[in-house]
This record gives sequence, structure tokens and C-alpha cells, in this order.
Amino acid sequence: MAAAAAITELTLLKPNANFPKLYRTTSRFTSVRMSASSAAKPGKKAPKTTKINESLLTPRFYTTDFDEMEQLFNTEMNKNLNEEEFAALLNEFKTDYNQKHFVRNPEFKEAADKIQGPMRQIFVEFLERSCTAEFSGFLLYKELGRRLKKTNPVVAEIFSLMSRDEARHAGFLNKGLSDFNLALDLGFLTKARKYTFFKPKFIFYATYLSEKIGYWRYITIYRHLKANPEYQLYPIFKYFENWCQDENRHGDFFSALMKAQPQFLNDWKAKLWSRFFCLSVYVTMYLNDCQRTSFYEGIGLNTKEFDMHVIIETNRTTARVFPAVLDVENPEFKRKLDRMVEIYTKLNAIGSSDDAAVVKNLKKVPLVAMLASEIIAAYLMPPVESGSVDLADFEPRLVY
Ligand SMILES: [Fe+2]
Ligand SMILES: [Fe+2]
Repeated sequence: MAAAAAITELTLLKPNANFPKLYRTTSRFTSVRMSASSAAKPGKKAPKTTKINESLLTPRFYTTDFDEMEQLFNTEMNKNLNEEEFAALLNEFKTDYNQKHFVRNPEFKEAADKIQGPMRQIFVEFLERSCTAEFSGFLLYKELGRRLKKTNPVVAEIFSLMSRDEARHAGFLNKGLSDFNLALDLGFLTKARKYTFFKPKFIFYATYLSEKIGYWRYITIYRHLKANPEYQLYPIFKYFENWCQDENRHGDFFSALMKAQPQFLNDWKAKLWSRFFCLSVYVTMYLNDCQRTSFYEGIGLNTKEFDMHVIIETNRTTARVFPAVLDVENPEFKRKLDRMVEIYTKLNAIGSSDDAAVVKNLKKVPLVAMLASEIIAAYLMPPVESGSVDLADFEPRLVY
């Protein structure tokens, strides 16, 4: 649980990235490697080493049972795998709509130089967290692409092309950090961070949700800044419109994968897990963002309104696939989230106080219990029955 997490400080930012062999071989992924060291070009100021706070709410790296994955995607064993559908999807990914999208211009550095004071640190943190989250997708998809090559070359290639997209996203964010004279050492991150193990079924739920919530976050920020250009502090947001279509396509691919595994969608256990993953993804985002309201306010958004919009839209999208979702449009759901924020803020205040560790822990116990009971109460709210295990209704498409 987040509240019980000891916040450890890890040094994650170093000037020169060293990529492990596994991710060094394919020229397709040089964007990540280059970006990690781009700030150290001759004649330019070397990027500084800095620290980020690591807690249970920090974006994680995932690993899974790759042998089970191989079985799930074996077309001999699973007759639900619609090969034509996956071949069509592969063509969509090969089209590579955003191949020329992520091109920087001098506006970036100029804008970064104008961001001063507390907002500068908040921006850096936003770039770091987003880069870590994108890079996490890169690592998982890259490994799935490698491991599924023999069993299902089509699905494997889609994973590899999705890792291409995530590498680009992470690289672009890391170049953004170089505007602030920083660089995330992604090679160090790959080796030094702990990986969270999820069974394949849970990888599907969690990754589908994170792609769709990513889509809604990016498109909402993009539309808001288009309507209110005076808050456009840094040009990266202008790229979100096409960028989020990558996330949308990734989510649609997971939707097709889950439909090819109806056992993950059609029983009472699937309903319980669907609700559980929805809740953990929504609560994590809400608690995270409410600790960083200055970032959202800085770009002219009301944090809670922004988050609720993203949660409601993500939930509506998810309801097309998951067999049950949460009733997030019931005002009681938001009241519960707000109470969690109050408790979490108190827990953080205790964490950063000067009290001895034992005293801190004693003070935290009742708050952790309160937070847990709010989370359980939100989970137990009457759900919304949803989903359709319809194998034929998937069509890749653009959503704006
Ligand atoms: Fe991405
Ligand atoms: Fe993605």
C-alpha cells in the first residue's frame, strides 16, 4: 500500500547513459540512447545529476510469466486468436503514423529557460515521471516482442513496434529534460530498478488501463491548451495530439488480445479483478496528481476536475471491454477519492516530519487503516456491469 511505503531516494540521473546489451542491438531504438546522452554534446553544458523521489506511486517497471504468455499466444492451443485481425493490426502499426512527428525545434530550449522558480522543478518532475512511465512500456513490450517471436510472430512484431513507439516517447521526454540541463540515465534505470511481477492476465488489465488513461490524459491536456494557449508554457504539449493516438492504438491492441482470451473477461473473477485494477489505476492517479496541483494549475487546469474527467472517460472506454467497471459517475466515488487525498496528505506530512521513525510509524497506523477502509469502501460500491466478449467488433480507428 502506498501509505506504508518507505520513500527512498535513488540517484537516477547521470550524464551518460549506458544501455544494456539487450536494448542496444537494434538501430530502431537509438532515439532513446541518443537522447539520454544528448545533453552532453561537446560545447554544451553537461547535464546535472539529480535525484527523484521513489515511492509506491512512482511509475513501475513490470515483468511477467513469459512461458505462460507463449502458451496464450500459441495459435495451435488458442483457437480464439483471430489471425486476420492481428495481421490487420500489424499493418496499422507498420504504417508508423508518427514516424516524423517527434521533431524538436528551438522553441523548446527557449521555453524551458523562461520556466523559473518552483515551476521549474515541477516541470522537471513531470518530465521525469512521464519518461519513466513511457520507458517502462518500452521495456515490457520489447521483451514480449522478443519472447513471442517463435510462438506468434505477428503478435511479437506488434509488441516490437509498440516498443518502438514507447522508445520514441521516452526519448522525446528525455530530450525535454536536456532543455533543463538534465538527462535520465535510462540504462541505469533498466538495471537498478526493481521489476514488479504480474501474471499475464494482470498485465493485460493493467496495461490496457494505463494506455487508455494515458490517451485521455494527453488528449485532455492538448485540447485544454489549444483552447487556452496562454498556458502553453512548453511546446511538448503541442505534440500530444498525435502522440496520444499511439497510446490509443496500444490500448486497442490490448483490447483485441483480451478478446482473444475470453477466460480473462467472462467470469465472476474477471469482474472482481477488472474493478480492482480500475480502482488501483484511478486512485494512484488521483493521489499522485493531488500531490502536484501546482503543475496542473500552472498550465491552467483544475487538478481534481481534470482527473475526474480523465477517470470518467477512461472508465467509459474500459466499459466496452471489461466485464465490470466502477460507478465513477456516482458522486460518492469522488467524495471517497477526496477523503483518500486528505488522509494521504496527512501521511505524507508525518513522513516528512522530524519525528523519530518509531513515532512516525505509530502516528501512521490509524491513518493507514482509514485509507485502507476508504479504498475497500470504494471497491465495494455497486459496480456497473459492462463489456462484450464479441470477437468480431474490433476495428482499429482514430479517436479525437
Ligand atoms: Fe507512450
Ligand atoms: Fe503506449
